[in-house]
Amino acid sequence: MNNGTWTLLRRDGVALIIAAPETGLPAVLHWGADLGPLDAADLDGLDRTTARQTAPGTLDTAWRLSLAPQESEGWPGRPALLATRAGRPLFPRWEATVEQQGDAAVEVTAVDAAAGLTLRTRLEIGAGGLVLVDHELQNDGGEAVDVAWLEATLPVPKTADHLTSFTGRWAREKAPATGAIPRGSTVRESRRGRGGHDSPWVTLASTGAPRNRTGEVWAVHLGWSADVRHRTDRPTDHVTLIGAGELLRPSEIRLDHGDSYRAPTAYFSWSDTGLDGIADRFHTWMRARPQHPRTARPLVLNTWEAVYFDHDPARVEALARRAAEIGVERFVLDDGWFTARRHDRAGLGDWEVDPAVWPEGLEPLAELVRSLGMQFGLWFEPEMVNLDSNLARAHPDWLLASPESVPSPEGLSFRTQYVLDLANPEAFEHLRSQMSTLVDRLGIAFIKWDHNRDLVEAVHEGRPGTHPQTLAAYRLIDRLKADHPGLEIESCSSGGARTDLGILARTDRVWASDSNDPVERQDIQRWTELVLPPEMIGAHVGPSPAHSSGRATALAYRIATSLQGSAGFEWDLLSCTEEETEQIKAFGALYKELRGLLHSGFVVHPDVLDPALRVRGVVAADRSEAVFTVATVASIEDALPERIRLAGLDPERRYTLRVRDEIGASKHGWTTPPWLGKDPVTVSGRVLTEVGLQLPGLWPVQAVMVHLTAA
Ligand code: DGJ
Repeated sequence: MNNGTWTLLRRDGVALIIAAPETGLPAVLHWGADLGPLDAADLDGLDRTTARQTAPGTLDTAWRLSLAPQESEGWPGRPALLATRAGRPLFPRWEATVEQQGDAAVEVTAVDAAAGLTLRTRLEIGAGGLVLVDHELQNDGGEAVDVAWLEATLPVPKTADHLTSFTGRWAREKAPATGAIPRGSTVRESRRGRGGHDSPWVTLASTGAPRNRTGEVWAVHLGWSADVRHRTDRPTDHVTLIGAGELLRPSEIRLDHGDSYRAPTAYFSWSDTGLDGIADRFHTWMRARPQHPRTARPLVLNTWEAVYFDHDPARVEALARRAAEIGVERFVLDDGWFTARRHDRAGLGDWEVDPAVWPEGLEPLAELVRSLGMQFGLWFEPEMVNLDSNLARAHPDWLLASPESVPSPEGLSFRTQYVLDLANPEAFEHLRSQMSTLVDRLGIAFIKWDHNRDLVEAVHEGRPGTHPQTLAAYRLIDRLKADHPGLEIESCSSGGARTDLGILARTDRVWASDSNDPVERQDIQRWTELVLPPEMIGAHVGPSPAHSSGRATALAYRIATSLQGSAGFEWDLLSCTEEETEQIKAFGALYKELRGLLHSGFVVHPDVLDPALRVRGVVAADRSEAVFTVATVASIEDALPERIRLAGLDPERRYTLRVRDEIGASKHGWTTPPWLGKDPVTVSGRVLTEVGLQLPGLWPVQAVMVHLTAA
């Protein structure tokens, strides 16, 4: 409803209430639980119960915090918008019009005619209750406007006192860290020109430390694949805010008359059922998008750890044959196939098959792969170029760099590669045409799109170049997808350094990490699926010991971990023993049997006490079926392990429990509950959720998978 002053948006258990004052921007009075169908009297009551006086030593009048708080409203925290015209700061006095669009969206157009600015803001509660905030600033004045930043914020209650942010490194992406929300305004920045392994990823505010299944949590994620700022504001005299926006360098966004800057979409998720409620909103929204991958996620073999740069056609073809025997459905040839690419110091930029290694081209391999019933996929690193390449020799001016950084000064080289300036139309067209030709010629169904260095000192036409580079990369993906319907693309960036919803608006899955160590993967995948549904998270079985860590693990454990995502292999399958081959065949069959459930159900993480335990389940939308995995990452603490309350089941139905030991048997010691035996156990959902399931005394780094089907 919208009575002129108030706008109430509602969808999927979430409400946003916006109040428009006589002058200035509207304020968000509520973001959180659906409050039901409110009438004007309710909204007036809400205003009266939440309005306040000002504290001594602050403004004379208490303002509601607006959609884009700023100094001109008396907001003492970090402004949402900072812009200058010819060096003069702009303090807009907005006149806003509010247009509700259906039940769950509103567009606010705010104009300051004197300042020559228009701000358009759209708030939408999307499917699943995910809130999308979009800002666009337009320069209506004569002189150019420099935008320092334009960030999206939403208020959270002052009782939200804990902040969880993410960090990481190569092969250990998305490690959460929780502490008190700092007082005042604080920012987390990423300046890598890609998300980065240490990307802030999601900022979470919570009342107390966040739990998986209970408690209120507020989250923000930015759909942008380059430099970002995540922010919290916790002033003493105002409400608390969370938000995010693109990190811009000075003069990166300069708006001439009539130009506008559209900030990346910020995604806000609120939950009163802990972190699983946050993830559920993201997953539901993602799955409702028209472009979401809906076909069965194929079992993949990626050649990287099998052959690295050592491309021998006979061996790769033998690998393809073995992959097909095992049930692989998509065969992906990784780095090493193009001109001069015998190591990582040459070749990037020359996207032509190297006749020295593939004398007959890649056509015979691609045809073999298809004749074996698999899709053919190929690795590219489109944005990158080696100085040792025909492209860089012919077009040294196509590099995205400042002149001082080419060649890299001693010690500042980054995998000996440089970045191609995709905002240069000629460079863009050259790359597009090379890639498109190969997609057509080889019948490529899948591109693994890599990005293995930060953008350091990125300069385009004398100005900071990260923003135009990111948009150009998006355009290139969009164009390739439009020209090749059905083409799927995986976003990889030295593993999971580019996994945001900006890149995922146009790609189909991510390579979550270069770590195939399943112990590390338990946590990397768990936190990646805080935003991405499991069907978008590439998770492959690698060899033991893992190449990235040297840790040896049981094959059953590696399989159980791969089944938690979009499954496959990163392994020289020709080196497998007969026993291993049988086991991975059974894994392939199990994946195909269960993926309908695993890739459509809701993901649950029952809270556990023991820090060695990782418990995760996927429950069918109609709760007729579920799969739970219990894994240990270390030695469990108690002789009698805890009972796990399985989440998400229907209390009114009875479930039959069956251990899926196709993955391989788990090793457990002193406690062996009867449900682990051969005879199926049947029990009510209420017992499983209220009393719980007794865990076995699992040895360190063991996994057991149990499949529940409702009677
Ligand atoms: C980094 C990726 O994350 C790996 O999977 C692999 O594709 C290499 N690049 C190839 O250079």
